[in-house]
Amino acid sequence: MAMALPAIAVIGAGLMGHGIAYRLAAAGHEVRVQDPDPAARQALAGKIGDICDLLGTSRSALERISGHADLASAVVGVETVIEAAPERLELKQSIFAALEQATAPGTILASNTSALPIHRIAETIGDRSRVVGAHFWNPPHLVPLVEVVLMGEANRPAAERISALLSSAGWHPVTVNRDIPGFIGNRLQHALKREAIALVAAGVCDAETIDDVVKLGFGARLSVLGPLEQSDLVGLDLTKSIHDTLMPDLDVTAVTHPYLEALIAKGDTGMKAGQGFRRWTPDQAEAVRQRLREFLVSQAQSRRQL
Ligand SMILES: NC(=O)c1ccc[n+]([C@@H]2O[C@H](COP(=O)([O-])OP(=O)(O)OC[C@H]3O[C@@H](n4cnc5c(N)ncnc54)[C@H](O)[C@@H]3O)[C@@H](O)[C@H]2O)c1
Repeated sequence: MAMALPAIAVIGAGLMGHGIAYRLAAAGHEVRVQDPDPAARQALAGKIGDICDLLGTSRSALERISGHADLASAVVGVETVIEAAPERLELKQSIFAALEQATAPGTILASNTSALPIHRIAETIGDRSRVVGAHFWNPPHLVPLVEVVLMGEANRPAAERISALLSSAGWHPVTVNRDIPGFIGNRLQHALKREAIALVAAGVCDAETIDDVVKLGFGARLSVLGPLEQSDLVGLDLTKSIHDTLMPDLDVTAVTHPYLEALIAKGDTGMKAGQGFRRWTPDQAEAVRQRLREFLVSQAQSRRQL
């Protein structure tokens, strides 16, 4: 008889928590999702069902997921906890302190923080070697990458254990060797945004042109050819020639760009306001969301077929 897979607790049933719970349950784990908000717990089954419908997968994952109000009862006997509560340092610190009390000594305590340093989240607990960053990407049931964050060597065994678990559930974990702001993915993403905003602010082009240049230009190959692979492909000598010309000219603004600050001050916060870098009607905004969903589902399906 096949051995049952270990139970896992997910803290927070929001945008990230429910998608993480789905993937783990679809891989065969019992998943206990803890959230103090009754509305979040009540919505959980419906949101998991929506993912099953979107992906055309069996609803059996639902049978392995339970919602819990109480943290201690949710984590009894689990070997791994993945925290996906709101992005507030004090809240995460108090959750991790409670988790250390409520779990067995070897239990891995992982945080899906977007940007908080993992060592700050671990400040309130005695055994930091159990704590690790596990940065998923939205939506976590469709995007394969998880950045697993080390704090020196102390938590490497925990990082290796959670990486093995994530791989077995269908994610692609990578190791971030230093606990730095933004880990790897967000540093790269926001380095691109810094230059994009600076180009618009300088009147080189409008925001729509930036998006076209990325989507129809180098972005068209990015999911099959990473930037350093691409450099190796064209030759590092060419990359150097371009850098010799370009590096002195790229934006190096060391704070949030004044152009972005000014948009926010005007209330132009993006699709939710109808205006951000670009103007959006509700239909146009929904069309973007639909296009993204369809693309990510088709990518996930083609990966499954490989
Ligand atoms: N949204 C993203 O694109 C994204 C991507 C990567 C990482 N993250 C990170 O994941 C974490 C969760 O983000 P989200 O977008 O899912 O937020 P969310 O607001 O959608 O969900 C957070 C959930 O946590 C619950 N919660 C509040 N207090 C809690 C507590 N004390 N214990 C347990 N649950 C509690 C809330 O009721 C809510 O259901 C954040 O740290 C965020 O930075 C988000």
